[in-house]
Amino acid sequence: MFLSVPHGGRLITALSPASARPEMARAYATRPAIRLSPREISDLGLIAIGAVSPLDGFMDEKTYHSVVDRMRLPDGLVFPLPIVLPVREEEARGLRIGEVVRLLDTSDRLLGLMTVSDIFRRDLEWEAQEVYRTNDPAHPGVAALGRLPGPFAIGGKVTVFDDWSEGPFAPLALTPTESRARFESLGWQTVVGFQTRNPIHRAHEYIQKCSLEIVDGLFLHPLVGETKEDDVPARVRMDCYNVLLERYYPRTRVVLGVFPGAMRYAGPREALFHALVRKNYGCTHFIVGRDHAGVGSYYGPFEAHALLRQFSFDELGIIPIFFDTAYYCRTCEGMVSHKTCGHDESSHVLLSGTKVRQMLRDGLPPPPEMTRPEVAAVLIGHYRKREESIPAVSSS
Ligand code: ADX
Repeated sequence: MFLSVPHGGRLITALSPASARPEMARAYATRPAIRLSPREISDLGLIAIGAVSPLDGFMDEKTYHSVVDRMRLPDGLVFPLPIVLPVREEEARGLRIGEVVRLLDTSDRLLGLMTVSDIFRRDLEWEAQEVYRTNDPAHPGVAALGRLPGPFAIGGKVTVFDDWSEGPFAPLALTPTESRARFESLGWQTVVGFQTRNPIHRAHEYIQKCSLEIVDGLFLHPLVGETKEDDVPARVRMDCYNVLLERYYPRTRVVLGVFPGAMRYAGPREALFHALVRKNYGCTHFIVGRDHAGVGSYYGPFEAHALLRQFSFDELGIIPIFFDTAYYCRTCEGMVSHKTCGHDESSHVLLSGTKVRQMLRDGLPPPPEMTRPEVAAVLIGHYRKREESIPAVSSS
């Protein structure tokens, strides 16, 4: 059996049975409460299910520094993104090391508990510069830092009630433990993970199917945590994935899951994070294409490849499969990439994401060489509904 070993050696989960909630709620009723934003709830979920193994809680100051500074946990294990729990200054001042706090969602439901092991101040400018390589507030990751109540954070081990994954994606929310079991039951020894925050276009399909030629199975793992405003919402994307899988993929060779993390848009660092996380889900390979987790022009299209190449297989524990820019070539009469096609741009069917979005908004399907008609139909329906739901501006 060749399924990958979790990061750090074994899956570390932090789940408590939901049946214990009422008793815990009573026992800790007087403890301080920390209300988590959707983004922080996503991180808590990742810790709970072992997706970010070996983390067993939110990072303390030493870990935060080490990760931001050198992309490693203090023990040297590769880990590129900080997973921290921000608190307001008054909250930070009222807490003591060693005490248990209640973790609540925005409607005050008790999600879990945390034992505070550190209370510290983040250097948000430094963090933005290191993680996102910019301090530009127009960058969505930097903008998210700007929306924080301040620089304070708490670290510590968590325990989370195991019904956190209720909701529309719950049936698909395979945890790392479950995905590993699924791959094993399918007899897969090699599995390629595919991260996406978008509907699947022909270029995505092409790089997935190229990968499927060399491994046993594809783990289609769209991110369904918070994304930026103009990304297509996850529930619409799920319809796109389902229609595509039904029509164009061998069903026995694909498992569809959802990745409950939030998108950071940290480009190369996030590509590394996405790979390590998919290793925890059991993937042996991971696709990294053009401008993975990028936004605007903050990162070069292949900087993520360059970063991942800096680490040995022993350090990563998952094999990245790198792809050059993929597109349809009229002269080759098929999907290709810069590596496999020598024709010039006049043969390529390649429109920008902005142009494709504009066409869909106008009710026009993009060329079928870019987007399958069935996917275009779902997206056009989505944009039409969105237009209809925007109230007309009154002239008074
Ligand atoms: S991401 O932010 O989740 O990485 P996206 O959904 O666009 O964005 O991409 C999913 C994966 O497909 C990433 O690995 C990305 O690099 C790759 N990719 C997207 N478009 C192309 C393309 N035209 N050619 C090659 N790789 C691509």
